[in-house]
Amino acid sequence: MDSHITIFDTTLRDGEQSPGYSMNKQEKLRLALQLEKLGVDVIEAGFPIASDGDYQTVREIGKVIKKSSVAALCRTRQVDLERAVSAVQFAAKPRIHTFIATSDIHLKYKLQMSRSEVVESAVNAVKYAKSHYDDIEFSAEDASRSDPEFLIEIFTAVIDAGATTINVPDTVGYALPWEYSELIRTLKENVSNIDRAVISVHCHNDLGLAVANSLMAIRCGARQIECTVNGIGERAGNASLEEVVMAIETRKNSMHYSTSINTKEIFPASQLLAQITGKGVQPNKAIVGDNAFAHEAGIHQHGVLKNPLTYEIMTPESVGLTSNKIVIGKHSGRFALGKKLEELGYFLDKDDLNEVYVKVTELADKQKTVEDQDLIKIMATANYSNQNPNRTLAAGG
Ligand code: KIV
Ligand code: ZN
Repeated sequence: MDSHITIFDTTLRDGEQSPGYSMNKQEKLRLALQLEKLGVDVIEAGFPIASDGDYQTVREIGKVIKKSSVAALCRTRQVDLERAVSAVQFAAKPRIHTFIATSDIHLKYKLQMSRSEVVESAVNAVKYAKSHYDDIEFSAEDASRSDPEFLIEIFTAVIDAGATTINVPDTVGYALPWEYSELIRTLKENVSNIDRAVISVHCHNDLGLAVANSLMAIRCGARQIECTVNGIGERAGNASLEEVVMAIETRKNSMHYSTSINTKEIFPASQLLAQITGKGVQPNKAIVGDNAFAHEAGIHQHGVLKNPLTYEIMTPESVGLTSNKIVIGKHSGRFALGKKLEELGYFLDKDDLNEVYVKVTELADKQKTVEDQDLIKIMATANYSNQNPNRTLAAGG
């Protein structure tokens, strides 16, 4: 049987931390409802100590979300913990997510704490959180640059204190896939009480490796992936939810894992986030970018029109799109142009199609793509009759 991978979505917390992506309470509520529809197991709703707005938002999300767990982030400080504990009090499935840095560089320059002080703070935080709720996650910030021996020590201690998930963040996106998976394997093999906790991974994308690192980690025993819609997040972002999930779905022949994600809600979630934040998705973004299912090159168009499997590894429908997109441009061939014209109501013989093809490529040389309206204009100017005028009007209007 496939092992279940918990999808922990942090779009509303780490995602929102990226410049230009802040969202108000109403916007976060809308997105949280969509995340629940998408089927994420855990929604990290915010960092309640950060502002009163964040606190109120986590509370409201906790009230409306019924199926997903709702997590509140906090440092290991008492004030943070109390705020987080209070923020998720109405949630059907509350989770407290507490963190402290573990790398020497963070201990020396940021925390100015010794290793034993860090362990003590982490253990106290987990115990306090556990006195309120069952579901407790502990993160060792900057884990990928921390001494593995120290990670073994701190994770063993927090699991004893009641942590049910231990998270191993690659906070600065520094790890390489084989290093990161080796770290997960080391933890799995050496944290003596690891059978009482889920190993979670949280990868940033500074080297473009967040998804690869997350997938390698599950091969070595991690069972929770932290990710965001459209891959938004601090600096270069977090592991992208849609990429992680569709990699697992598409490559079932190589990875025996499953998630609870309803993949048909991926595109709507991506669009909602883009609409709320006013930040579009880069066109070549995997899965949800404008070009992810678009074909302009003649050879590709020909193949896809005959059988989409020639150039598509998943169906557009599987991620919530209605169809792929055949774009008419200077790389397109006669076959795709003929099909497009048929859709618009023009059925041409070979010679006529050749004539129109010349006109279309001339236009495509001048502008980047040729839209339906351009085709209709070319056809009207050349006096070709339309056998489906309604379609033309619709396309032209
Ligand atoms: O990147 C990071 O280390 C984090 C932690 C708070 C989990 O976001
Ligand atoms: Zn992060």
